[in-house]
Amino acid sequence: MTKLTLKIKRFNPEKDAKAWWGTYEVDVEPTDRILDALHQVKYFQDGTLNLRRSCAHGVCGSDGMRINGANQLACKLLVKDAIKKEGDTVTVEPLMGLPVIKDLIVDMEPFFDHYRSVMPFLVNDEPLPEDGRERLQSVAEQEKIMEGTKCILCACCTTSCPSFWANGKYVGPAALVNAHRFVFDTRDRAASERLGILNQQMGVWRCRTAFNCTNACPREIPVTQQIAEIKRALTTGMI
Ligand code: SF4
Ligand code: F3S
Ligand code: FES
Repeated sequence: MTKLTLKIKRFNPEKDAKAWWGTYEVDVEPTDRILDALHQVKYFQDGTLNLRRSCAHGVCGSDGMRINGANQLACKLLVKDAIKKEGDTVTVEPLMGLPVIKDLIVDMEPFFDHYRSVMPFLVNDEPLPEDGRERLQSVAEQEKIMEGTKCILCACCTTSCPSFWANGKYVGPAALVNAHRFVFDTRDRAASERLGILNQQMGVWRCRTAFNCTNACPREIPVTQQIAEIKRALTTGMI
């Protein structure tokens, strides 16, 4: 067991005029996740602590939060990787740039509005191949979109982006990754329409290549590279 101090940003809109820091000491295993440490607080010290989580295995994307100043999934970060020595403090805050509903829970609707705005679905009204099989792709064609399919919509990228902090209307890196996934899908027929959306004022050109998104992505998606590929497609008219 090791001791750990959690410094958690708390806010209850029903009684707090502003956010405050709660400090909690917990005993955890070095191989526990920060999510386990947060559960120690919620289950044994202060049941009013609010946070989102579901799978606890880095799949559902619901527990993105700012830990020690960097966006990450609480269920993926090991205690031993979050502290240098026993008793160290780990700060935990809600994602930045989205309205805080309560404690570590932010309103994800603006984030999903941006996601929905880029048509994140396959468009193809052509008849299916006559043999009744699915629309086939080569391995190379599949590899082009493979990275984007790993996105779990955790919002760690978008809420670490300085352009998004400056203007929440910017569509943001998560939406761009999900647009990329279909723009470069050889089975899709709406690339031009989608690129037209991304070419607008709050679209891809708001990206200033800060790279925070790539660093924050728990799925190791090369976010900035994908954004560059969208920019290139727009400037060269390659699609
Ligand atoms: Fe999360 Fe990565 Fe998807 Fe962004 S691109 S929402 S950081 S999984
Ligand atoms: Fe933001 Fe990522 Fe671009 S952090 S500025 S979207 S490279
Ligand atoms: Fe599902 Fe962390 S709880 S990704």
